[in-house]
Amino acid sequence: MRYVDTRPKTEVGTMTLPAGYYADPGYFARELEAVHLRMWLYAGRVEDVPEPGSYVLRQVANASVVLVRDEGGHIRAFHNVCRHRGTRLCKEASGRFSGTIQCKYHAWTYRLDGTLKKAPHMENVAGFREEDWPLSKVHVATWDGLLFISFAEDPIPFSEHLNGMDTRFRNWRMHELVTVERRVYQLRANWKLIIQNYHECLHCPIAHPQLQRITHFLSGDNEPPQPTWLGSRMDLGPGFTTLTADGKTRRRPLPHLTDEERRHVYYYAVLPNMLLNLAPDYVVTFMFNPQGVDRTEVTCHWLMHPDEVARPGFDPSDAVDFWHLTNEQDWELSDLAQAGISSRGYRPGPFSNREEMLTAMDRWVLERVGTL
Ligand code: FES
Ligand SMILES: [Fe+2]
Repeated sequence: MRYVDTRPKTEVGTMTLPAGYYADPGYFARELEAVHLRMWLYAGRVEDVPEPGSYVLRQVANASVVLVRDEGGHIRAFHNVCRHRGTRLCKEASGRFSGTIQCKYHAWTYRLDGTLKKAPHMENVAGFREEDWPLSKVHVATWDGLLFISFAEDPIPFSEHLNGMDTRFRNWRMHELVTVERRVYQLRANWKLIIQNYHECLHCPIAHPQLQRITHFLSGDNEPPQPTWLGSRMDLGPGFTTLTADGKTRRRPLPHLTDEERRHVYYYAVLPNMLLNLAPDYVVTFMFNPQGVDRTEVTCHWLMHPDEVARPGFDPSDAVDFWHLTNEQDWELSDLAQAGISSRGYRPGPFSNREEMLTAMDRWVLERVGTL
């Protein structure tokens, strides 16, 4: 198949943002307040907390959050801060509480639903009531096995945040899939550069020869940008059925996909901290944790169908290796972009007519955070 660029021609006008948007710690602090601490954030998989007492920690800006499954099976999120004198409650990134959460300092003890059960030495404090001192709550929501949290006092309804994503990708039934691999990457790049890199494939023929062979860079089709997500899809070339080194796999396609869905790979960003990559037989989720203006931790989960995992000789490495390689290629470009933009000599440059998702992202940031 021959692909041609059918996008409307544009003129020089819309330029990349000045360096401060990617390099100024003050602007980064404003982004955290206006974006990350206000919107719903992707926080991992429901299966990360499989049973009552299981917990994981998530760090966002200077907030540490405990996500825990309570005795009733509900997932709760709390600030990892004791209500007595503010001590951090847990240090391990994940684990299991045995029925309660106890502070190591003076043994204030909380139930898994966050309520305070016992506060030693407070019995002689007139007016002290345990029920007045639960752990500080963080909002939690789930979508098809994916966990989200919000620090906002009164976040927008989660369905409004998803804005149709849940129906669009219903056929992947992500709640039925299982994590077959999890990898954590440390990037020396601003979080926005990683999302921008994900939403253009002009670099694919140069940086990703393996990917380009299977999904031609001009086969990309973008959706109109939305207030909470950006999305695009690419065609799987003739003879290819998924994204692996040879474009083929022993895994069967996910059972509920339409023929149309089996012929494409979908690339979505659920702003501000999730990338979602849906292939016909597996899904990769990317969870961003911006740690500084030029540092971002990215955690990837590879998800596959349990029936495939149960088959004799199951081996997910074709998908894991392919995306690990693609990630490494992308991360290098993001790091180089950060290095160049934050060095003397950088001036805003002109976008091409195929970089409209990037200009949409820039507008989105300016609208939410304001100018430098
Ligand atoms: S600070 Fe936690 S019990 Fe005192
Ligand atoms: Fe890329």
